[in-house]
Amino acid sequence: VHHTARHDLDEAEALFAEHGDRIAAFITEPVQGAGGVHPPEPGYLQGLRRLCDEYDALLIFDEVITGFGRLGTWWGADRYDVVPDLVTFAKAVTSGYQPLGGVLVGPRALAPLEADPAFVLRHGHTHSGHPAACVAASANIAILRDEHLLDRAGSIAESLGGGLKRLRDEGLVGEVRGVGAIWAAEMVDGVSHLAVRDAMFDRGVIVRPLSASTIAFCPPLVIGDDDVALCIDVLAGAVRGLR
Ligand SMILES: Cc1ncc(COP(=O)(O)O)c(C=O)c1O
Repeated sequence: VHHTARHDLDEAEALFAEHGDRIAAFITEPVQGAGGVHPPEPGYLQGLRRLCDEYDALLIFDEVITGFGRLGTWWGADRYDVVPDLVTFAKAVTSGYQPLGGVLVGPRALAPLEADPAFVLRHGHTHSGHPAACVAASANIAILRDEHLLDRAGSIAESLGGGLKRLRDEGLVGEVRGVGAIWAAEMVDGVSHLAVRDAMFDRGVIVRPLSASTIAFCPPLVIGDDDVALCIDVLAGAVRGLR
């Protein structure tokens, strides 16, 4: 396993040029989530697709965070218009009401497995495909679809992303990054992201501190504008109280 720097297509290109015949697959999140909330650089995912095609490697998208609507599309792959060969998913497939994760297997990965009808991929778990988890996923997906909840990501981008950018323009936070319903703000020098998390918690807002100085927001798609405004106000109050 080799790790490349985030969104560094040049490094990926050099790696494929040197070891392309030994690379089975390249795995990436469409938007890096727990690593600090970093949307892809323009052309990065397309460039990976091109490299994987050129060197006959599989492109794997880890859509555990981005899948099932967080970016306003069912998949990050849709949002960025890149077709991966395998997709991992979990979290929002059941909105967390039941524990379920899975892998979508595209034709390129499936064909060798199905080439020999006598071959059986012996891979299983005790609770694979557990009916309770799967029925929760079916019900959840129906709600996402019928209540048009994916459309909410766009207005969350405006209210949450817009609110964070206002705080940035006031100098209360540093860089703001995000897309759809996943956003993050960097804390300015001297303001601890852990202290901000604690102060926000005391005021009723749960956020996630990431990396060295990032506060991340990944609200449910049903969040209303009032609650988004509360998140922004509470963040502003917490930062003001710590400076
Ligand atoms: C992008 C990403 N991939 C994978 C995982 C782990 O997923 P699981 O616990 O379903 O293996 C996480 C957990 O937070 C994640 O954020």
